[in-house]
Amino acid sequence: MISNNTSKSVIRLHVNGESHDVIIRFADTLLHTLREQLGLTGAKRSCENGDCGACTVLINGEPMHSCLSLTIEQIDQTITTIEGLEDSSIKQAFVSHWAIQCGYCTPGFILNCHALKARHPDAEEEVIEEWMQSNLCRCTGYQEIKEAVKAVLQEENTLLNETKNTLD
Ligand code: FES
Ligand code: FES
Repeated sequence: MISNNTSKSVIRLHVNGESHDVIIRFADTLLHTLREQLGLTGAKRSCENGDCGACTVLINGEPMHSCLSLTIEQIDQTITTIEGLEDSSIKQAFVSHWAIQCGYCTPGFILNCHALKARHPDAEEEVIEEWMQSNLCRCTGYQEIKEAVKAVLQEENTLLNETKNTLD
């Protein structure tokens, strides 16, 4: 924490590879700070209750609902939003598989997919479905989203196998 008075504090956040000093109240959510102070509107405000996943960001690589995460708890954490996601192959897969309709849920799904790829690149359909349950799509494009996620994991597995064969 850099400074504080009774109602507000200045803290430093690490977001998308950059450090930002932000003025917060103790009750501010990370979603609020990202959108209102840093102008990062990729994390969407929707239920604000942990139910929909539209606000998903990565905190130290783990998908988290930023509407339920207090900003004050993010000091020294590494935060990634859709604006900072470098893995464009996931974005491309969502486009190629028509997994975007209104797009409101898409950043959350993409960040969740990124974490799934890192944690379970060999995930079977059941695991994919379970993993994606934390995100809702009001346009109900679940089949297309699932196909996009499967394509991402398939590509990752092909790459991993090729690397393994080269090293063997
Ligand atoms: S806005 Fe955070 S889970 Fe719905
Ligand atoms: S694409 Fe519209 S909510 Fe998912």
